[in-house]
Amino acid sequence: MTDIRIAEKVIDKFERPLISLRISITNRCNVKCFYCHHDGIKPQNYEMTPNEIEKIVRVAKEIGIEKIRLSGGEPLIRDDIIEIVSKISSVGFHDISLTTNGVLLGKYAENLYKAGLTRINVSFDTLNSETYKFITKRDYMEDTMEGIEKAVKAGLNPVKVNMVVMKGINDNEIWDMFTFCKDVGAILQLIELLKTENCEESDFFDEYHYDMGGLEDHLSKISNRVKTRKFMQDRKKYFVKGGEIEIVRPMDNTEFCKNCTRLRITPDGKIKPCLLRNDNLIDLIEPMRSGFSDEELKKVFLKAIKNREPYFTDASC
Ligand code: GTP
Ligand code: 5AD
Repeated sequence: MTDIRIAEKVIDKFERPLISLRISITNRCNVKCFYCHHDGIKPQNYEMTPNEIEKIVRVAKEIGIEKIRLSGGEPLIRDDIIEIVSKISSVGFHDISLTTNGVLLGKYAENLYKAGLTRINVSFDTLNSETYKFITKRDYMEDTMEGIEKAVKAGLNPVKVNMVVMKGINDNEIWDMFTFCKDVGAILQLIELLKTENCEESDFFDEYHYDMGGLEDHLSKISNRVKTRKFMQDRKKYFVKGGEIEIVRPMDNTEFCKNCTRLRITPDGKIKPCLLRNDNLIDLIEPMRSGFSDEELKKVFLKAIKNREPYFTDASC
């Protein structure tokens, strides 16, 4: 039986505990979404090995990290994805998740679950095949829908559908997507478009940004219950029409940053304290390769945490 006791939490200087670690395991992707922020990471080629990833999560657990999220690029593009999940699972976490575009999910869902993945988020913005092609420049809508169904059947729970809501592109599909999710047994997560320095196209934001303020007002009126996700950037979850809708609105949101409990790792093994910044990365892979002990690696984590500060503050908004 794996030991999943949790070490004492490290708190940053803004009194935010560090709870989750988001590891980008590749920059590669099999779709080409025009709005993609690439998880805030500048392109580079190195990809950490399963053993390196295992060592990182072992040390992270020592400083109190409870949740591991794998992301990309597209994490399922890696041939050794099942091995990576198994190794993380062997360290012992109650929450191991992955964010995928779903194209390869039908192939992997069952084995991911068997390897210890607990839940999954699938980026899926539209039920219209032409709109899907416009967004992704690829023709994989059916594969992704099948992947979502297989993930639910495999036992991953919850399966969340990430819909980036964009003005004039898919803002008229919110309730169709809600019905699709409810029918298939998934949860709809509506995401406000975010602009980062990594977005390849710069003018898309003004054209497509959809302010979800009005929608949130409407949801709070018609929902039976609203839950605030504590330690998850105070995001709101609405229980509505027999289903659930989660909302992600980070832009200019001081509450979001004030309640951020997340650290990130880039595919080349650097600790990244914030999605929106690249000027405070701390290298972890070189110290690991040069034989640092777990105690010394913990200190590298602590150095990165020391640099951590909210991106949106009252002064910046
Ligand atoms: P769970 O809800 O626990 O599954 O995590 P998540 O929603 O953060 O994961 P996911 O990978 O599905 O990300 C959903 C959206 O949240 C994406 O659009 C991200 O851009 C946004 N997001 C995730 N983490 C951060 C963050 O640290 N800062 C900001 N500004 N946005 C984030
Ligand atoms: N704004 C908001 N969400 C984005 N994602 C990618 N780029 C952006 C953006 N510019 C989402 C993807 C995926 C998650 C990791 O981030 O849809 O679900």
